[in-house]
Amino acid sequence: MSQPIQTVSIRVQPAYEASIGPGLLDECGPRLRCLLGPCRAVVISDTTVSALYLPRVQQSLEQAGFTVSAWAFPAGERQKNLLTLSAALEFLAREALTRSDCVVALGGGVVGDLAGFTAGCYLRGIPYVQLPTTLLAAVDSSVGGKTGVDLTAGKNLAGLFVQPAAMLFDTDCLTTLPPAVIADGASEAVKTGVLAGGPLWTLLEQDGLTVDPAGVIARCVAYKAGIVERDPREAGERKLLNLGHTVGHAIERCSDYTIPHGHAVAAGLAIIARAAEALGWTAEPVAARITAALERHSLPVGTEYAPRELARAAVSDKKRRGSEITLAVPRSFGGCILKTLPLSDLESVIAAGWEVF
Ligand code: NAD
Ligand code: GLY
Repeated sequence: MSQPIQTVSIRVQPAYEASIGPGLLDECGPRLRCLLGPCRAVVISDTTVSALYLPRVQQSLEQAGFTVSAWAFPAGERQKNLLTLSAALEFLAREALTRSDCVVALGGGVVGDLAGFTAGCYLRGIPYVQLPTTLLAAVDSSVGGKTGVDLTAGKNLAGLFVQPAAMLFDTDCLTTLPPAVIADGASEAVKTGVLAGGPLWTLLEQDGLTVDPAGVIARCVAYKAGIVERDPREAGERKLLNLGHTVGHAIERCSDYTIPHGHAVAAGLAIIARAAEALGWTAEPVAARITAALERHSLPVGTEYAPRELARAAVSDKKRRGSEITLAVPRSFGGCILKTLPLSDLESVIAAGWEVF
């Protein structure tokens, strides 16, 4: 018997649903028709995903009455930039899309961030939907409405908060993912487990992602939905979702984006967990359990980049405010806190949890 579709509501303005289960790429047409009516749809993807999944998406959309065109860019974080954004915007303009049409983001987090930003800018905003195809995009980036591109100075420095009209994750996409890309998603899932604590953390400490990936994804999305509902524009609580990301983004930047986001976040998470323990910021031992959960997925728990280099790279982090930076700190499982520090302390905090990898 095939698995049921699980649905999570994201009650922001306007509210939308995330649906998770098998076969959703073939069902996307009728499901989106209920939300957006038959209109013109531009599917934005990367060339890897487009070769694998565009025909199914296009057929489903066309059979439901959409007029479909598609645009794809080469895969990879290095393409998440202003040049690709510009080319995507020009494509929408050449296709003469109007505000009653839509963009469909088909791909991982890179595609979702770029396509969402493109839709949010074009004509000052047209609807878009997220069809994530990686574990990372399913558990994290396809809900919550953060979109954007990288600038030379750092990650995600240009972007918009703009919520999708829907998220549909076809769990069959997991079958074509290389193990390293699965691991990237496991990293964000472990982060969410540390934040949530309770049953989600227990699942991630055990082999939950292998045994019941759809269940873990739905729980991660539900946890993130709660935070996004309370703080859609990251004025406070949503900063917790950046757990592991200050150092993670610095690692990505130091590697010139050759280390993928999920791997970099895993190292960032391990470093902040060890630092928190060493500096007496934790209420229970966290570091060994977090690193064990990451290592289960062959993720790195340290980095070759020195604390000074990482602290320098973090200067352009969005979480910096003037001469201060706010870090998410794993005080306990389900009890993470925000700590604001002088930027000048960042190097010593990183050094307290640093290990070479
Ligand atoms: P990605 O989008 O680069 O995808 C990784 C690789 O997998 C790519 O080569 C892609 O072509 C390939 N791929 C995608 N789906 C596939 C499938 N089903 N089968 C085979 N190959 C497939 O990387 P990612 O890890 O999905 O996303 C990382 C990005 O997400 C980063 O840019 C990060 O900043 C962003 N992100 C955004 C948010 C947010 O809230 N907006 C949250 C977390 C991460
Ligand atoms: N991934 C962090 C956020 O959506 O806020």
